[in-house]
Amino acid sequence: MKFFADTADTRDIAELAATGLLDGVTTNPSLIHKVGRDFIEVVTEIAGIVDGPVSAEVVALDHEGMLREAEVLRRIADNIAIKVPLTIDGLKTCKALTGDGTMVNVTLCFSANQALLAAKAGATFISPFVGRHDDVGFDGMQLIADIRLIYDNYGFDTEILVASVRHPVHVLEAAKIGADIMTAPPAVIRQLARHPLTDKGIEGFLADWAKTGQSIA
Ligand code: E4P
Repeated sequence: MKFFADTADTRDIAELAATGLLDGVTTNPSLIHKVGRDFIEVVTEIAGIVDGPVSAEVVALDHEGMLREAEVLRRIADNIAIKVPLTIDGLKTCKALTGDGTMVNVTLCFSANQALLAAKAGATFISPFVGRHDDVGFDGMQLIADIRLIYDNYGFDTEILVASVRHPVHVLEAAKIGADIMTAPPAVIRQLARHPLTDKGIEGFLADWAKTGQSIA
């Protein structure tokens, strides 16, 4: 399973990239607003930090406008994935861009039928939002399972990018279902490594090691 960081914070991205565990980054207009920086400048910086796909989202709602914005965004770097909303215009734009060899992330997916359409439009990534789906009383993980089944039934190459991840259980469930990628805030990615028994074990080993009076290096 690939791990993407869902943030536009370049410090967090650089720190996670240094672990060797980061496969890509997703941004959206709200995350750009949160860091308060120029969109093109920050995405250019992120694309230089990670080798993997960096999603940059269009804000136009019509096909022509999306294509114009995508043209600007894809010139930033080869690892830019154009993020388009799951609308008819977004799907039309997806088809045109992927036909040209550009990576496209179709975002704001909340149903398996929407995911089916994105795959038919040749999407590189489909982003089902599990957390927001849970928030309104639906089962976000059932959506991931349904998409996995449909994509496997027809052999679609579109990668399932689990988005709106809020906690480690979302990551665990997505991995069990066989999602290709998950994107999570840096705090959630760091949380995956933590366990109270790991901390307690380290504490105990270090205490006993100190009693030996030895050093390794
Ligand atoms: C995905 O690409 C989105 O940026 C993101 O996962 C949205 O998550 P949120 O529901 O926490 O805003």
